[in-house]
Amino acid sequence: MNSECASTDDYFFSPRAAARRILIDQLGQETATRNRNFAAGFIRRIKSQRIFTHPILDALRDGAFDRDTLAEIHLEFRNAVVTVFTDAILAAQLQSRTLESRFGPASHMVVRFLLSLNLLDEFGYKPGIGEESYFRGHPWAAHFCMFDEVLSELGVDADARAAYSESDGARRVRLFIESQFSDYLGLLVVLASTEETAMVICPAMRKAAAHVGIDVTRGYYFVHGTTADAETRAFDDDHQEDVAFALMHAMTPTDDRRACRLADDYGQVWLQFWDDLWTRVEHRRIRPLEA
Ligand SMILES: [Fe+2]
Repeated sequence: MNSECASTDDYFFSPRAAARRILIDQLGQETATRNRNFAAGFIRRIKSQRIFTHPILDALRDGAFDRDTLAEIHLEFRNAVVTVFTDAILAAQLQSRTLESRFGPASHMVVRFLLSLNLLDEFGYKPGIGEESYFRGHPWAAHFCMFDEVLSELGVDADARAAYSESDGARRVRLFIESQFSDYLGLLVVLASTEETAMVICPAMRKAAAHVGIDVTRGYYFVHGTTADAETRAFDDDHQEDVAFALMHAMTPTDDRRACRLADDYGQVWLQFWDDLWTRVEHRRIRPLEA
């Protein structure tokens, strides 16, 4: 631990880079290189899953669904993952305490610091300095709250959201995520997979929402996407990289197979979710898929 520069502004200038650097230092260069190679292959493995080319994505992008069908898709997505996503990050924050036995006292605070950047975004804080040189943000800007606002705009109010009976597929996804809550590595696998797929699914759903008249220049769809996306103010690629970094940091050589198996199983559960949903909504398309 080193706080000798704590009184200078520079010390606080690059929180993400500082945390990532310390995680590499904790691992040691040799293990870090090995684990980085694993993490890169692991992300490629996730990206090769069939959900990344699922036909429902093109249908969403092409605006093939009316408001009612899109509301149903949003309700399913809400019950599958939106309701538990920050729970999973918070659980990872808690379970990171298992790192202490490997890297020393208080070592887990670094990864908590890094994953907090994702939580700040999820809870409605914004980059920049607000009143009295303090943080910017608003509780209603929490992503979960803004997702529910989209549902309201689609005609699904709070009572309808509470009364909605989710599909088996949505329940399976959520239960899979919750089943990892006491396992630090499992949580990182789930978070890395979820962030990766969200970067494909959210832009498709944004296009679908815009097609039915939802204002996507504000709210949920404005804060989801990548930093390269000119239509959003979103940081999902940064968050994905942070999770990949945490995963790289957590891995031991004996974890490789388990991490891959978990990612494959989680991908299967998601694929079943989208396949089932596609079967339900495919015939309700208001325009055919473009060739
Ligand atoms: Fe989000």
